[in-house]
Amino acid sequence: MSDLNFDRHRRLRSSDSMRALVRETHLRTEDLIYPIFVLEEEGQKNEVPSMPGIYQISLDRLSEEMDEVVSLGIRAVLLFGVPDVKDSVGSEAYNDEGIIQKATRFIKENYPDVLVVADTCLCEYTDHGHCGVIHDQYVHNDESLPLLVKTAISQAKAGADIIAPSNMMDGFVAAIRKGLDDSGFENIPIMSYAIKYASAFYGPFRDAAGSTPQFGDRKTYQMDPANRLEAQREAESDIMEGADFLIVKPAMTYLDIMREVRDRYNVPIVAYNVSGEYSMVKAAAQNGWINEQQIVLEKLTSMKRAGANLIMTYFAKDVAKWLKQ
Ligand code: PBG
Repeated sequence: MSDLNFDRHRRLRSSDSMRALVRETHLRTEDLIYPIFVLEEEGQKNEVPSMPGIYQISLDRLSEEMDEVVSLGIRAVLLFGVPDVKDSVGSEAYNDEGIIQKATRFIKENYPDVLVVADTCLCEYTDHGHCGVIHDQYVHNDESLPLLVKTAISQAKAGADIIAPSNMMDGFVAAIRKGLDDSGFENIPIMSYAIKYASAFYGPFRDAAGSTPQFGDRKTYQMDPANRLEAQREAESDIMEGADFLIVKPAMTYLDIMREVRDRYNVPIVAYNVSGEYSMVKAAAQNGWINEQQIVLEKLTSMKRAGANLIMTYFAKDVAKWLKQ
């Protein structure tokens, strides 16, 4: 063998300690943002059938979830509201006494160190399930913007630390930035769902949030999964409009996109490990087909390796537990 010239890569894989020494990517509990579905109806904690371990939880029981989050060292939660009433313009989204506003106040009063990220969208609050105002079966861009701005301001007033607009109307970052600034919230950052694909991986979420579109789909506002250059245009607009973070969503099937935005922009990049990605792992794990812990850690580590700084994930509590061990 001595006449062969090759590199011995295995030298640096010889033991646990050696592998730890040369590891390039690290997953930390501080990287995780945990999504919570807050139900307006009282006294409820309902497991979402397609998302084992994830609950719709009412405000009066939110402390159960928050105590656990805090004890595990998770520092940020992403709130989604499941309101009692819906209408065509999503009024509950921007009601100062709406479920998200109440949940935000509750968390900031009782768990002041946990960052509240408010998902700013209308689909959970509209009776048609679309993310904006409808005209002739079409989601109207410019008429939807003021409603999003009102929602963001109302969320900021309630104490939200970060505004995360997810509805994919053009100009939403510019509109929300101006709205927040004009209302004295110039210090509240915007975590924009800049790159959000029209994905079948959101299916279980729509069960959890009750936000399935009642007609059509979201393809006129969310992106075509086939497009890569378009992702750069979306990211560029949001950066110019003042986004402080860029979200790439879904995560697992879009790691190439994550790497490209990481390389091109200098803001924190957030991976959204969405509901369908969660459900697939859970289902396979429940069947005993995969090792859940190893699969989840490998997936999330891959997102960080692809350039994500932060990860929104329904696995946050599990991962925090595993990282503690
Ligand atoms: C709201 C919103 C959605 C998700 C996050 N915010 C659903 C959608 O666009 O249909 C999906 C999250 C997930 O699947 O986990 N617009």
